[in-house]
Amino acid sequence: MEIFKEVKPIRAFLGRFVNNSIGLVPTMGALHQGHLSLIKKCKKENNLTIATVYVNPTQFNNASDLDKYPRTIEKDIELLASEGCDVLFCPSNHEMYPKPSSLKMDFGHLDRILEGEFRPGHFSGVGLVVSKLFNIIQPTKAYFGQKDYQQYKVLSKLVEELDFNINLECVPTIREEDGLAMSSRNQRLDISAREKAIVFYKALNRAKNLLLERASMQFVKQDIKQFCEAESGVKLEYIELATRENLILMENVKDANDSVLLIAGFVGEVRLIDNLFLS
Ligand code: PAJ
Repeated sequence: MEIFKEVKPIRAFLGRFVNNSIGLVPTMGALHQGHLSLIKKCKKENNLTIATVYVNPTQFNNASDLDKYPRTIEKDIELLASEGCDVLFCPSNHEMYPKPSSLKMDFGHLDRILEGEFRPGHFSGVGLVVSKLFNIIQPTKAYFGQKDYQQYKVLSKLVEELDFNINLECVPTIREEDGLAMSSRNQRLDISAREKAIVFYKALNRAKNLLLERASMQFVKQDIKQFCEAESGVKLEYIELATRENLILMENVKDANDSVLLIAGFVGEVRLIDNLFLS
């Protein structure tokens, strides 16, 4: 696996692959099987697979969250190499942001709801860093997880509005055996918090059943808050029902095929998100 830390050399290297399909898998590292499923899909569909590992400061709205974000680059390199990833780009902060960036992005409705509401500025930072990666790598396809469904929708809007000639793929969420969505942040859970963290996936399934039995979201929100917060140290931030296509928030299920439930909350200090398609 070729490893690059700087923009110029990776651009020069990629210049040799102009007629090849290039697949990009952007990550913030602390890699797990969820990330590796994106790499596997990317490898099947492209001549060249490029992963990026970069903990992007502009998308963190909380300094301690950025500080405590797990960093395991040596292990990440081993995992990527064993999956047969061709190229790793792992730049420094100075390489990505030689000068502080003042560019802000606003994704309209997508920026006002769910993660946009609870993490102001987060999607602006995601949009900024992913645009930079798209311009540096110029991939044919880029791979993102359903785990961060709103992020996938934000990036689809970015590609559409800025005319990036890149196809985005949304890859299903990989879960632990008990159903907990794999996440780099899970590494921060101690044994007791890890046991409690499953509550959000259970809550999604409970909410789905209630909704399919015709309960309203008003009822579901109260029920799920009690259900989650019955565990000490668990705090629900939101549970919402939305259309899959445009993330328009809904009170009742209209079309199960176009519905997604999204949840966020804390187990102790660790913030987790998850979502479930209704069909
Ligand atoms: P990160 O959280 O490292 O995730 C990198 C990619 O892996 C994202 O597309 C995410 O949705 C996907 N992913 C995470 N957990 C997954 C799981 N359990 N199953 C399937 N896919 C999963 O998302 C980011 O980094 C950053 O915001 C980034 C896009 C790299 C921009 O900085």
